Amino acid sequence: MTEMPATLRIVEHPLVQHKLTLMREKDTSTAVFRQLLREISQLLAYEITADLPMTTKRIETPIQQMDAPVLAGKKLALISILRAGNGLLDGVLELVPSARVGFVGLYRDEETLEPVEYYFKVPEGLADRMTIAVDPMLATGNSSVAAIDMLKKAGATNVRFLCLLAAPEGVRRMAEAHPDVPVVTAALDERLNEKGYIVPGLGDAGDRMFGTK
Ligand code: URA
Repeated sequence: MTEMPATLRIVEHPLVQHKLTLMREKDTSTAVFRQLLREISQLLAYEITADLPMTTKRIETPIQQMDAPVLAGKKLALISILRAGNGLLDGVLELVPSARVGFVGLYRDEETLEPVEYYFKVPEGLADRMTIAVDPMLATGNSSVAAIDMLKKAGATNVRFLCLLAAPEGVRRMAEAHPDVPVVTAALDERLNEKGYIVPGLGDAGDRMFGTK
């Protein structure tokens, strides 16, 4: 595989990799898939938030006063790229329950593979928030890039992208369009097939998490 952009970070934690393998298996049920996605998204969220800015706050323990570390700045903005993004969103929100949440609705035209917008609702003050866009599959990158275009147009300046699986094509496309956006993923797969699915992948993430076909 040719060199990947420096914006890509693969989370190689054994728990992430084990859970991902279970999710890839075609006979994994919807309920188990959903549960695994919830668990894995918390582990990925832990990684993508590892360098959040900190400050201190004066508190009183039962023993004495101390300057204790707390998160600095405005609450995070989590942006789910519908519909599959909601699966990742749930887990991340469990870890960062005070985050503000937005939704970008894009569907992929099956013929052209181009994104088509149908919904956009995001928290105010994006310019002052770390903004994490979530979508399980970074495939062609078309919809993810379009979503981040929209977030930047709405004022976001500090954007990260969280996914479960990435294809080299999507990672490159994202790095070209948004070189300032780090991409955090559990795995970088081989390629896209002619239908735009990630290979070996896990199939259609939305169908697998919602039990649709
Ligand atoms: N979206 C999916 O759900 N799966 C893929 O493999 C590619 C895009």
